[in-house]
Amino acid sequence: MKVVHTIEELRDQLRGQLHVSFVPTMGNLHEGHLSLMKMARQHGSPVVASIFVNRLQFGPNEDFDQYPRTLEADIEKLEKERDVYVLFAPNEREMYPEPQSFQIQPPADLGSILEGEFRPGFFKGVATVVLKLFSCVQPRVAVFGKKDYQQLMVVRSMCRQFQLPVNILAHETVRDEDGLALSSRNRYLSAQERIEAARLHQQLQGLREAVLAGDKQIGRLEQQAVAELQKNHWQVDYLTVRRQRDLLAPEPYELEAGEPLVVLAAARLGSTRLIDNLEI
Ligand code: PAJ
Repeated sequence: MKVVHTIEELRDQLRGQLHVSFVPTMGNLHEGHLSLMKMARQHGSPVVASIFVNRLQFGPNEDFDQYPRTLEADIEKLEKERDVYVLFAPNEREMYPEPQSFQIQPPADLGSILEGEFRPGFFKGVATVVLKLFSCVQPRVAVFGKKDYQQLMVVRSMCRQFQLPVNILAHETVRDEDGLALSSRNRYLSAQERIEAARLHQQLQGLREAVLAGDKQIGRLEQQAVAELQKNHWQVDYLTVRRQRDLLAPEPYELEAGEPLVVLAAARLGSTRLIDNLEI
């Protein structure tokens, strides 16, 4: 695997390559990231991965400074898996040599709800860096995780609206044995919080099963799940059932008609904020 830090070196490595597959990340790689790279390799090679902790997508009171930066360990993991041909790990000056005053503003009906409501500017930062990374890597295929469901939809919508010639593939959420979705932020959890953290997925699963068993009282199911989390000292930002196609609330007749749904949640345990979702 070649590790490159500049856009020029990246372009040199990729000259003449027509089927590049791409997996953007912020590093501190876990099995979730690694299986995205495996999927990328199945859909075209060479595979490019990027590691860049993107300041633009962090709010002023978020964990940008604290975010784990573990480049050496990440490189070791990638070397071992052998799925990645080039790792692009730019520093901030390479990606943002001047203030990034051109930015991609996602539409409010997708970008300002759910995560966008609790993290203003988040999807603007994500869309901007993803477009910029796409322009550096020029992939045919890019793989994103369903763990970040709304992010995946923002990226897809951006590609559609700008006619970007990138095929966006979605990878299922990779979980620990107790159901907790793997995340770089799980390392902020204390041992006790780590045990409790599985409850988030359990509640989503319970809700999903109730809906599949025919319970159409979505509001009550949402409230029950929130109450159960709060009882166990979670602070819930949202836990809500939405339509898969646009993340808006389903109409009652759509519930009857079998509209594809997804339950999405964000909640804090101590100072750690976790997100998860489950398609129904
Ligand atoms: P990061 O959180 O590092 O995630 C990189 C990719 O891995 C994303 O597509 C994310 O959805 C996926 N991923 C993370 N945990 C996963 C899991 N448990 N199962 C499956 N996929 C998982 O998401 C970002 O970085 C950034 O916003 C980025 C897109 C790189 C832009 O800066």
